[in-house]
Amino acid sequence: MAEPLTELSIERLSQLGDGVAHHEGRTVFVEGALPGERVRAEVIASGKVLRAEIRELLERSPHRREPACAHAGRCGGCDWLHASEHLQREAKREIAVSALEHLGGIPRTELEVEEPAVSKRPLGYRRRAVLHFEGRALGLFGRRSHELVPFESCPALVKSLELLPGPLGEKLQGVAKDAESLTVLAEGSQVAFSLALKVEAQMRHLQACERAVEALRLRGAVVVPHDGQARLLGDPVLKAENPLRPEVPLYLRPDLFAQANAEANLALTTAAATLVEAREGERILELYSGNGNLTFAVAGTAGSVLAVESSGPAVSLAQRSAREGGVGNVRFVQGDAAQVCRGLAAEGQTFDALLLDPPRVGAAGVQEWAARLGVRRVVYVACDPASLARDAAELVSAGFRPRKLQLVDLFPQTRHVEAVMSLERAAEP
Ligand SMILES: C[S@@+](CC[C@H](N)C(=O)[O-])C[C@H]1O[C@@H](n2cnc3c(N)ncnc32)[C@H](O)[C@@H]1O
Repeated sequence: MAEPLTELSIERLSQLGDGVAHHEGRTVFVEGALPGERVRAEVIASGKVLRAEIRELLERSPHRREPACAHAGRCGGCDWLHASEHLQREAKREIAVSALEHLGGIPRTELEVEEPAVSKRPLGYRRRAVLHFEGRALGLFGRRSHELVPFESCPALVKSLELLPGPLGEKLQGVAKDAESLTVLAEGSQVAFSLALKVEAQMRHLQACERAVEALRLRGAVVVPHDGQARLLGDPVLKAENPLRPEVPLYLRPDLFAQANAEANLALTTAAATLVEAREGERILELYSGNGNLTFAVAGTAGSVLAVESSGPAVSLAQRSAREGGVGNVRFVQGDAAQVCRGLAAEGQTFDALLLDPPRVGAAGVQEWAARLGVRRVVYVACDPASLARDAAELVSAGFRPRKLQLVDLFPQTRHVEAVMSLERAAEP
């Protein structure tokens, strides 16, 4: 049963984007509240945690503002449209640093925390988004629910995608019920999409996608069946600029991972290359290398890079970039990171530095790979501060010392933060 209204003072923002307060000795997560605010809220117990919904804003943060999107507060895409960018950045820094402190046991005093790199555009920056269908409408899941918030357009998307959800949903309505998700991808004015199916791919799926590509003048599409090989329609591989190494083009495909903010990606690749500090003659091992986004940045100053990635198509795109860019000191290997590391260790191979950019779950076991492969420096690129904290703690237990933390704000208006952390093997006593 809901409790009577309670006055709460908001202390900070949580990793999931909510305001955090205390009530009768327990932590309460208040959706939509900002630090420094006082709210009258309805506290709703939900499992182990207490949640509260604002009923009245008693004291308003000077950082609160009118959200620039009609779906704010409901759509799970952007959590913090109602907060100033300044507050968002401070909150992201605190989320990353306190995760390392509380979950990883790494005090902030032991880390050089660099000024966060910020995205130039507060909105209109997303070149890739995974959408879902509701009937013929496309949208994103709501905050903390699988209830879809459908939309015709989305201001977080880059110009060439902003108005696409409406017409694309319309064109694909005949196959929407078989769709798991739909990913849109743009590079400049070139646009492609991929349709992930819950079922086997049938002719009608391919035809519907082909018609959508034609009618909306897109570059191509990829149909990904529930089980089996992806089918390419038109030319869904988009060529992207690579500002750090303009001679090496990067290739993107909508069904494969791609950094969603192209402009802020420059800050990310720069941070990775700067923190790896690859020197002439050094051997670098990179895990989770995708299409080579970070690989070529790091390889510029290295002796050689061995890059490991589980997706065969992503490895092919990376190899194409290396060929066309005339890059001779990089080798891409398809395989599971842990298995490849075990194999390399069994062969007695060693590396000077390890660069890794794992998915949200992190890279359990990284300390063992680093130790067995003799690496002296580790640079860990993380999209989840909690996974980073867990893995960094293991690296510290295995004899590494935390050095620097560079945050990159790849996703303004959201609670998401990308962290690049460097560690080095502590000197032998
Ligand atoms: C966060 S993305 C990073 C890609 C790349 N570094 C970039 O900046 O675009 C993680 C990548 O890890 C790959 N991956 C996921 N699990 C893997 C595993 N067990 N072994 C190797 N690669 C894996 C995914 O296919 C994806 O390309």
